[in-house]
Amino acid sequence: MSHILQLSPYTPECINSDLEAVAPVIRYWDLGNPQVLPAELAKDVTVVATKGDLGVPPALMASLPNLKLISVYGVGYDAIDLNEARRRSIAITTTPDSLTSAVADMAIALILAGSRRLVEGDHFVRAGNWANGKLGTGFDIRGKTVGIFGYGRIGKKIARILEAFDCNILYCDLKPDADHPAGFCATLEELAEKSRVLVISAAGGAATRGMVNLNVLSRLGPDGLLINVARGSIVNQEDLIKALQNGAVGGACLDVFEQEPNVPEPLVSAKNVILTPHISSATLETRRHMGEVVIQNIAAWLEGKPLVTPLQL
Ligand code: 8YV
Repeated sequence: MSHILQLSPYTPECINSDLEAVAPVIRYWDLGNPQVLPAELAKDVTVVATKGDLGVPPALMASLPNLKLISVYGVGYDAIDLNEARRRSIAITTTPDSLTSAVADMAIALILAGSRRLVEGDHFVRAGNWANGKLGTGFDIRGKTVGIFGYGRIGKKIARILEAFDCNILYCDLKPDADHPAGFCATLEELAEKSRVLVISAAGGAATRGMVNLNVLSRLGPDGLLINVARGSIVNQEDLIKALQNGAVGGACLDVFEQEPNVPEPLVSAKNVILTPHISSATLETRRHMGEVVIQNIAAWLEGKPLVTPLQL
């Protein structure tokens, strides 16, 4: 009988019990997250239920001879070996439309928090500094140019919300978008150069690794604000730390990091940085919907029906 290997618990809790109603579930974390699954358990596993940031570690994937479906709670598949999945005819599903709005909202929240110095202000009040001085000014995003790196579902949603702030939207992606050809920048360098705020909403993986480097950050400039709601791997973290320390870039609001959950000390202690623990899709409504889509895909596959949100491999 088909077993589901669930790599990590989902939120809200009801998703975990609903998953168990679909087929027997092996809870990977209860086994202590072994590098490879023992053969007597592995032989029954046809489905892996995972998360975007977790993917499926290569050694684990190799230890599952009958794996046929990887169902991702999230949109990222950069932590899955796609070539291997293709070679073994393993289908992959993600939860694309479920989280678009939540992640876009988080980008807006971070833009406003960064430009208006919200977190710094909170610390300032709590530290009792208000009576002795002033925090200083932030900057308006109204009328400013916001550059969006990765103009997919999330990038476009961010752009649409920013229209209400009268922002000038530029973007960089593989090709111009038919609905907004004038905003296209062919290179990330050009986008950074022209933007006051640079938002990263691109897919992670080899193609984008380290693309936001010292050169890009310097072009964004001393007044520029970097927002990352995509993947830590897209930003060269060492370069970012250097740029923040020497004033080459103004500030950064980061929801994702190179080696989560580890955040380097220079980022933790920097005043011009806001840090959140990879929570862009973490609203109850969104996470519930993501979980439902994971289950719908698994149920469809078990019943021999078409997958609901397959990735085109
Ligand atoms: C989630 C993500 O936080 O969609 C992704 O790829 O990284 C995030 O939406 C993640 O999947 C849940 O851990």
